[in-house]
Amino acid sequence: MPEPRTFRDEPVSFVRRSGRMSDGQERAFEELAPFYLLDVPRDVAFTSVHPDARLDVASAYGRTAQLIVEIGSGQGHAIVSAATARPDDDFLAVEVFRAGLARTMLDADTAGARNLRLVEANAPEVLSTYLPEAAASEVWIFFSDPWHKKRHVKRRLIRPGFPETAARALADGGMLRLATDWEDYALQMRDVLDAAPDFERAFEGEWAERFDGRVMTAFERKGIAKGREIRDLTYRRVPRA
Ligand SMILES: C[S@@+](CC[C@H](N)C(=O)[O-])C[C@H]1O[C@@H](n2cnc3c(N)ncnc32)[C@H](O)[C@@H]1O
Repeated sequence: MPEPRTFRDEPVSFVRRSGRMSDGQERAFEELAPFYLLDVPRDVAFTSVHPDARLDVASAYGRTAQLIVEIGSGQGHAIVSAATARPDDDFLAVEVFRAGLARTMLDADTAGARNLRLVEANAPEVLSTYLPEAAASEVWIFFSDPWHKKRHVKRRLIRPGFPETAARALADGGMLRLATDWEDYALQMRDVLDAAPDFERAFEGEWAERFDGRVMTAFERKGIAKGREIRDLTYRRVPRA
């Protein structure tokens, strides 16, 4: 492989928190990571993905099934619950927050979910090169960090350019499911995706119905407690020409 680059070209949508992990979280990494956490060749930074690295999906899961990818899976509540409820599908959690990854592995192990893998990496790099083209039947992004201060808006994950990245990883007819409690970001998501030739709306009216595979998380609860409305969006990947 060529030498790694020394900088990222684009702002990332996260700040890596360096807080110490508890003994239980450290143990999750030692004991459960060999099964759950994919070993990713890196590029510029610990959360990067080497542009030449490709996931062999069938060998990662030991079978071929529909693959559902969750970006920013946090503590893993949604994806562990979905993986447990849908044993015939495979799930990939993409997250940079180590304590959240540890929690996800512990809960997956307790639930006996073997159809789930995790990747500790910057999501756009996973979607744009690490996953094979059209590998995902769905991509979920729930409560993406809103970066509401004006000077930070450029860090939002769902911004111009993102639809092309997501469309590459999605199969024809695949679904992109979003939810947010931040009105201004919901409007940005909808504008950006409405303008994307690779996607079409899979909802009628202003917003999509709440996706029934989405469980309530702390972020949603906090948004509701602050009086914010939760908005879902669902877009279908237009078949490739
Ligand atoms: C506000 S939290 C929501 C977590 C979860 N989806 C939920 O609803 O509880 C957003 C999460 O996205 C993760 N994240 C943000 N940007 C990311 C990126 N570029 N790649 C991977 N994870 C990212 C953050 O670390 C954080 O855990």
